[in-house]
Amino acid sequence: MRKKYGASWALVTGSSSGIGKELARTLLGQGLDVILVARKEPLFDAARRELAAQFPRRSVVQVEANLSDASGAWMAAIEAAVGEKDVQVVFLNAGFILTGMFEQNAVQAHLSGVSA
Ligand SMILES: NC(=O)c1ccc[n+]([C@@H]2O[C@H](COP(=O)([O-])OP(=O)(O)OC[C@H]3O[C@@H](n4cnc5c(N)ncnc54)[C@H](OP(=O)(O)O)[C@@H]3O)[C@@H](O)[C@H]2O)c1
Repeated sequence: MRKKYGASWALVTGSSSGIGKELARTLLGQGLDVILVARKEPLFDAARRELAAQFPRRSVVQVEANLSDASGAWMAAIEAAVGEKDVQVVFLNAGFILTGMFEQNAVQAHLSGVSA
């Protein structure tokens, strides 16, 4: 992304684990600085520390945001983190899957992504 498009900053949602974390690792490896977005969970701190330790010359910014909050209150934290940074690459990866039969999960879980 840096070599081909000259990108310097990326933002990845759902980057505390799984595919999002590996996307962030790949971008850091390509020489981009990265804004990580995920919910406030202990594993998020660990993920940021791990990536920052692996790429000490890169900036790794951590933004705690519950994207399931329909009020959109989380946007302020993202805006504050982005600030004047030139973010050219965005991966909207955060998501969830409910397992089991439809009726076995609470309606709130279907609507907001909060696990039952
Ligand atoms: N793995 C697969 O085979 C597969 C297949 C098809 C599609 N997908 C999709 O690809 C995406 C990533 O999958 P994955 O396997 O890497 O999942 P994962 O390991 O569960 O990671 C999901 C990430 O999203 C974050 N997240 C979840 N709910 C959030 C919320 N409300 N607000 C902010 N962040 C939230 C999680 O962090 P916290 O929970 O700590 O916030 C985590 O960082 C998902 O959308 C998934 O549905 C995956």
